[in-house]
Amino acid sequence: MSLILEGFMGSGKSAVGASLAGRLGIPFVDTDREIETRQGCSIADIFCSSGEEAFRQMETSMLQGLYLTGEEAVISLGGGTPMRDINASVIRRLGSVIYLKAPAQVLVRRLENETEERPMLEGYDLVQRVDSLLKEREGRYIELADVIIDVSDGCIADICDSIIKETGI
Ligand code: S3P
Repeated sequence: MSLILEGFMGSGKSAVGASLAGRLGIPFVDTDREIETRQGCSIADIFCSSGEEAFRQMETSMLQGLYLTGEEAVISLGGGTPMRDINASVIRRLGSVIYLKAPAQVLVRRLENETEERPMLEGYDLVQRVDSLLKEREGRYIELADVIIDVSDGCIADICDSIIKETGI
């Protein structure tokens, strides 16, 4: 069974996922990086050349592919991936879902210098955008989560400890 990390941009899904997979000795799949590798360009470029809808379709195909391989892994999702209903149902079947939760003001602080590679944030007022997207998304994150981990503070190793403890793996 896989462990799936969900949460808003800036919640640390990729860093925590890589560390957790290393500790558990299982593969790590970062769906964003995987899409970039397959497409041969950055997510920002995909949004720019093909649009958000095309990117969302790539996320869905990626998830369905992961489900079909059935390989046990730590999987970190993009912040918006759980929002499509079809993705949510695949995510549920992939394994145990862990929501890395942080309040909007913590996320804003972490994302302040990182909007360039994040097309969902670029060009917006950061505080307002994080606030409204988080409000839109948090219900889904909570609904899908088997375990919720507060990542407002604490280092990556501590967060991994909490995940291992809470999931009982
Ligand atoms: C997105 C989050 C990004 C990436 C894309 C869209 C979103 O991933 O998938 O830019 O809609 O929240 P991270 O959450 O890893 O930044």
